[in-house]
Amino acid sequence: MQQTQPARHWWTIGRRRSLLSRRYSTQSQSHSPPPWRPASALDEWVERDVRPISLRQLTFFGRTLTESRLISSANYVRTELPTRIAHRLREIQKLPYVIVANPHLSMVYELYYKAFERFRVVPEIRTLADNDKFCDILRHTLKEHLVVIPNLAMGVLESRELMPPDQMDHFMNTLLRARISRRVIAEQHLALTETFNSPWHFPDSHTRSDSNMEFVGEVFLRCNAKEVIERCGKLSQDMLRQCAGSDKIPDICIKGHLDATFPYILSHLEYIIGELLRNSIQAVNEKYQELLEPPPPIEVLICEAPQHVIVRISDQGGGIPRDLLPYLWSFSKGPRSKSQLENLGQVPAMAATMQELTVSKERKHADKETFRESSLDSLSSRPPNLRLGIGLPMSRVYAEYWAGSLELHSLEGYGVDAFLQISKLGNKNEQVTTRAAIDA
Ligand code: COI
Repeated sequence: MQQTQPARHWWTIGRRRSLLSRRYSTQSQSHSPPPWRPASALDEWVERDVRPISLRQLTFFGRTLTESRLISSANYVRTELPTRIAHRLREIQKLPYVIVANPHLSMVYELYYKAFERFRVVPEIRTLADNDKFCDILRHTLKEHLVVIPNLAMGVLESRELMPPDQMDHFMNTLLRARISRRVIAEQHLALTETFNSPWHFPDSHTRSDSNMEFVGEVFLRCNAKEVIERCGKLSQDMLRQCAGSDKIPDICIKGHLDATFPYILSHLEYIIGELLRNSIQAVNEKYQELLEPPPPIEVLICEAPQHVIVRISDQGGGIPRDLLPYLWSFSKGPRSKSQLENLGQVPAMAATMQELTVSKERKHADKETFRESSLDSLSSRPPNLRLGIGLPMSRVYAEYWAGSLELHSLEGYGVDAFLQISKLGNKNEQVTTRAAIDA
């Protein structure tokens, strides 16, 4: 195992570059390590505090959407994005140079630096015309950053000998959470602008309706867990049926508080539920493949408490092999196979969470591309056997982002119980700090 170089901050040390470029030159012809830059603008932005926001606050700008609220939302995003990016850039700079010199990670760093430079110079937004220009920059950047996740995942796998796994996981968790947070505020603002510009928008109607669903921007005010489970479950079942040609697909039986609703970003919930159900369906399918008896159903219980909605997904797919348990939540630890790297290589524009390549309904009508997340599209576009090894840790990042939690209990030889806890009042701030920092 190679020794890492702690504590020396490479962004001030130009000299070491040539040496490390040589080390990596065999890995990639197309990417060189990040160039040295004077740090003053970044220093200045790093000094600013991030202003976290709750689901309730996120809907505030959109309630009674007026021009002045839209402009306030634009200016919040305009100053918040470079602040949040600056904090991440500084964290990346604190990594050992040998890590950042990895071609995939250095590409991510470059993308963030470019975005930081782009956003920090946007002047105050005063008019709707300024806002339109700003939205073009947002759309462009969201699209440009679709390559971040596969590159991060490949970079981390390639560099995992070079940094202690816990440190690497901490880095990944923080980076991904921060990324979700930036995309949330950017996409929320785009959605609000879209609502404002829609011919159907009247100032005192604050919501947009998609087939009887009430949204404020990207926030679905009355997210119903049962409906999400049914949709994601059906899609996962259909996909496995098509891809594996199997008839051993378990039913999904939903019990409990079927009417529970809460405000949430639908695509986040779809991502988590989709990932959990797909794991369960696959496990049961594999276990019962050679058996004569029919596969037992996956049982989902929804429990509504005063502050939370809890979803328990129980399968009888045999449980998680004991030797994999320590690695379940890790982006970097564990027996990651060469095939996972190859799988990641197959999806160079896989997007944040395999979901971002969606063309939303309304914008399809307007013949404009958009990159709002919809996990259902990702679920249907990713073959079930394309295992990337980041679905579970990524789901937990999503769950914790809105102050929820995700736990798995494996009953060896029998099955798995997954517990997803969702904070249902929408009053909790986004958790931009990670689990390790909270535990400390
Ligand atoms: C990302 O997708 O990585 C972002 O940070 C997007 C944001 C700059 C709009």
